[in-house]
Amino acid sequence: MKKHIYPGFFSLTIGMLAFYGCQQPSEKKMASGKAGLEKTVFGRLPDGRNADLYTLRNEKGMEVKITNYGGTIVSCTAPDRNGTYADVVLGCDSLAGYLRGTPYFGALVGRYGNRIAKGKFTLDGVTYSLATNNIGNHLHGGITGFDKVLWTASAVENSGANPALKLTYLSKDGEEGYPGNLPVEVVYTLQSDNALKIEYTATTDKKTVVNLTNHAYFNLADAGKSDILGHELLLKAGRFLPVDSTLIPTGELRPVAGTPFDFTRSFKIGARINDSTDTQIRYGLGYDHCWVFDSPGGSLTEPVATLYEPGSGRLLEVLTTEPAIQFYSGNFLDGTVTGKGGLLYRHRTGLCLETEHYPDSPNRPEFPSTVLNPGETYRTTTVYRFSVK
Ligand code: GLA
Repeated sequence: MKKHIYPGFFSLTIGMLAFYGCQQPSEKKMASGKAGLEKTVFGRLPDGRNADLYTLRNEKGMEVKITNYGGTIVSCTAPDRNGTYADVVLGCDSLAGYLRGTPYFGALVGRYGNRIAKGKFTLDGVTYSLATNNIGNHLHGGITGFDKVLWTASAVENSGANPALKLTYLSKDGEEGYPGNLPVEVVYTLQSDNALKIEYTATTDKKTVVNLTNHAYFNLADAGKSDILGHELLLKAGRFLPVDSTLIPTGELRPVAGTPFDFTRSFKIGARINDSTDTQIRYGLGYDHCWVFDSPGGSLTEPVATLYEPGSGRLLEVLTTEPAIQFYSGNFLDGTVTGKGGLLYRHRTGLCLETEHYPDSPNRPEFPSTVLNPGETYRTTTVYRFSVK
């Protein structure tokens, strides 16, 4: 039932209490201890297969729980300015919650994160048709995207102070309409410096398109009890992609200066989110747009996005090799999804910082390419680093 991959991490009894039934986040000051990775059963899928839950813990006491169902981050703790670790992401207590359906809480998103206009794109003269699962457009890989499949999981051996979980999935030729067999590998590493690193790789046997990301909803104050409007955001992005009323980029790269989209210095998310005079805010029902980084394909040495929650002092820095980020302010959350501890996630109680290539790139030759050819390896890394200020 329960397997200690690195022994001496948690006692069996405490582990059984903590991991079966409700996955309540740790909300106490945790003693530092040994880093490790632990596995328990999370639940059973309708087809009889089990989904597991992996707990990565570092020496400081930070803990990240990931299920191989959708490669989903179920919980993630981070310290506040008093050193108290608490959960900072939205999610569900049980596999059943995820199976009932969530708006991609914590999930791996693929084969294509965000939208492809009308679910169509053409490669070498062949037009491919994908599911149109979002007002006439294709969203987040389709009906059964990577968020709804069971990944094969294994602990990365000898990862020492930086426990790591490897997830693999073979997306078959024709799955959700995409061409090419696409073996995908994602490695989650919880680093000793309280950073969660996500490394994605993929290859193909036919020309295809790929744009992988993670859809964690953060709320650095209380994991979704209150709204995120008081969080302060900084994006090193002088331009964003305006969209049409169905949230497909128009092709323009618009300077953010003088608009509610200017986060080049830290702004409270709530300060301009209801600016109904701005058409883009109206289309997005708030923020649901792609910002283009000033230095695309960063070196992972400098954060390109910074989120700060003044009440707790929690700071989240995002580092990525991706050229852009979808900042989504949880506008579609409406209190109908039941989360951890029975919490109903209300409007804007979580926000996403989805590192990515631009939406609809397969139909926009002028955007950085998302095409993957046989013989090439798709490779991208994003780091979510937690600290306090
Ligand atoms: C992305 C999209 C949003 C919404 C959410 C999931 O961030 O851009 O429009 O679909 O995912 O609800």
